[in-house]
Amino acid sequence: MKINWAERLMVNSPVRIVVQRLLIRWFKKNTFLKPGAKILEVGCGRGAGAAMLLKGFAPALLHAMDLDLRMIRQAQDYLPPQQNDIFLYVGDVLHLPYPDATMDAVFGFGVLHHLPDWPGGLGEIARVLKPGGQYFLEEFYPPFYQNFIARRIFLHPEKDRFHSADLHQALKAAGFTWRGILECPLVGVLGVAIKEEA
Ligand SMILES: C[S@@+](CC[C@H](N)C(=O)[O-])C[C@H]1O[C@@H](n2cnc3c(N)ncnc32)[C@H](O)[C@@H]1O
Repeated sequence: MKINWAERLMVNSPVRIVVQRLLIRWFKKNTFLKPGAKILEVGCGRGAGAAMLLKGFAPALLHAMDLDLRMIRQAQDYLPPQQNDIFLYVGDVLHLPYPDATMDAVFGFGVLHHLPDWPGGLGEIARVLKPGGQYFLEEFYPPFYQNFIARRIFLHPEKDRFHSADLHQALKAAGFTWRGILECPLVGVLGVAIKEEA
């Protein structure tokens, strides 16, 4: 589901850049991703995260996609020309245009909780990751985004939302194990999950 004007303001703010920097710093502390990796960022928004991934992980390939053409246009404007090694496209996490086991890492900053079919999105991320590949995620739980105030400001799918236990179970079912996790059950989770070797 595309984000509304209020969330666009939030994710396009300088505060979000600071937060994403801290998230990526935490990811780097909690795992190791070799330079030269194939990386996909899903739901990339205006591209600030993709720019940080390019700088921080020196990938051989970096694709960044979003459902919302407006966000991809913003990313095209946001990323300086020397960052044209980031391939940006409009797409849906539920239908990623890659063969199985293509990517070494998938990053998703605040994306899964925007999908009406979030288990489907998780399955698709698992499908495109190589065995041993890493899923870097920042996600939020309903008490955070569906409380009395937030639901009047932001727009999120309402049915079949995941709480902590649901996400843990679905990750396990999709073949992931946690490598690092920082979680607050009333807010959300920051984590790195590894796709098990076949
Ligand atoms: C909360 S915003 C986060 C944006 C960016 N990752 C950030 O952290 O600033 C969620 C993003 O996910 C995108 N999104 C929602 N559903 C999607 C889908 N099915 N496929 C790809 N992107 C999706 C939205 O358009 C939006 O840009």
